[in-house]
Amino acid sequence: MSDKKTITGFSKLSKRGKIKWLVENFFKDPEHVMRELMSYWHHDEEKQRLLDGFSENTISNFMLPFGVAPNFSINGKTYAVPMVIEESSVVAAAASSAKFWLERGGFQAEVLGVKKVGQVHFNWKGDARKLDAISEELKTLLRQDAASITTKMEERGGGILDIELINLTHLEPTYFQLKATFDTCDSMGANFINSVLEEFAKTLDRFLATHFIFNDDERDVTILLSILSNYTPECLVRASVECPVAALGEFPGGMSAVTFAQKFCAAVRIAHLDPHRATTHNKGIFNGIDAVVIATGNDFRAVEACGHTFAARSGRYQSLSHASVEDGIFRFWLGIPLALGTVGGLTKLHPIAGYSLEMLGNPSARELMMIVASVGLAQNFAALRSLVTTGIQAGHMKMHLANILAHFGATEEEGTTARVYFEDKTVSFTSVREWLEANREKMTTL
Ligand code: MEV
Repeated sequence: MSDKKTITGFSKLSKRGKIKWLVENFFKDPEHVMRELMSYWHHDEEKQRLLDGFSENTISNFMLPFGVAPNFSINGKTYAVPMVIEESSVVAAAASSAKFWLERGGFQAEVLGVKKVGQVHFNWKGDARKLDAISEELKTLLRQDAASITTKMEERGGGILDIELINLTHLEPTYFQLKATFDTCDSMGANFINSVLEEFAKTLDRFLATHFIFNDDERDVTILLSILSNYTPECLVRASVECPVAALGEFPGGMSAVTFAQKFCAAVRIAHLDPHRATTHNKGIFNGIDAVVIATGNDFRAVEACGHTFAARSGRYQSLSHASVEDGIFRFWLGIPLALGTVGGLTKLHPIAGYSLEMLGNPSARELMMIVASVGLAQNFAALRSLVTTGIQAGHMKMHLANILAHFGATEEEGTTARVYFEDKTVSFTSVREWLEANREKMTTL
């Protein structure tokens, strides 16, 4: 008997064919699911073809909200920031934080470096001293052979910055690395870096096989992998806010600015001490960062992976943000590596990513780094402000309630009454449904 849950040639089926096979084998109500999945196809066939081209085996589109957090003042320039995220409260929190800091001098941001990294990992059994002796010759050759790939990037002001030959045989027998750094200007640069690295690997192979310094036993090299590293600690941006403690104002429940600043700094300190808290703290930062990274067509997995390695660079996973109060000044800042692009990849291909970038004034990659870091800091500020004052649930529950009401098709009037009713009650799917049912019954019996 054939197992209907497996298939050969799925990728060759038409889109309809793929959905048909899936609904018939994995869903209880095939016709309904087929109709639903197809209802999310773009009505413009050309646009749908473009979306399908971003991936493989596509059957439909998975929608996420495209929101905007206005009023971000960064280095004196005002931005409306596009955000793609499915978690309620994130955009509202970013917007509220942006407004808060707009009235207190805004965000300051600076790019501290733009170095990207790539490695050729290889095994070689030769005499490392010989390799060391001819390393400069090798590096010159590596640059020469990669020139056809690097010329254009060099014309734009970027290219290969540095190449290192690293002996790692103390970690693993015969293990060496070519480690290179790159400036990829306004592109994220993954394709550029990987192409250069693959060229490096070919040159290395030829060089070791033919150089007179090596004996026959040293002519063989095993190239293991040639790939960029997503850990780019020197592609770094810093975003900060500051104001006199007194200018922070008053917080819910009559909490004074001084108490707020103390609790806030303690919360950040805890995120430096305790990895459990640090993870959630940084997750809050990435709520903002990922949302802008996705909206601008950048690679959020790369940004996340890099950020978390950076957060663990001391040997312990810690907060990415810092806070202090000195001489009556509250300061809050974030240092984070962000390898972003504003040309190439999805940034221009994805129609909405294009609009996101236009909304931001078509920034350079450096400017985008500063925007994204500021949004991460804003998000972190909003989360900590809630946590050390009202608690997170008050705001979350308001959003949660709005989502549940929308799910049940509540009218505007029902929404207004529900918000008052649930002010001091627990919001859950069941409690809102029961309240709506009771309320609707009451209305019909009136
Ligand atoms: C929720 O998505 C993010 C927070 O948990 C972040 C934090 O705790 O700092 C609120």
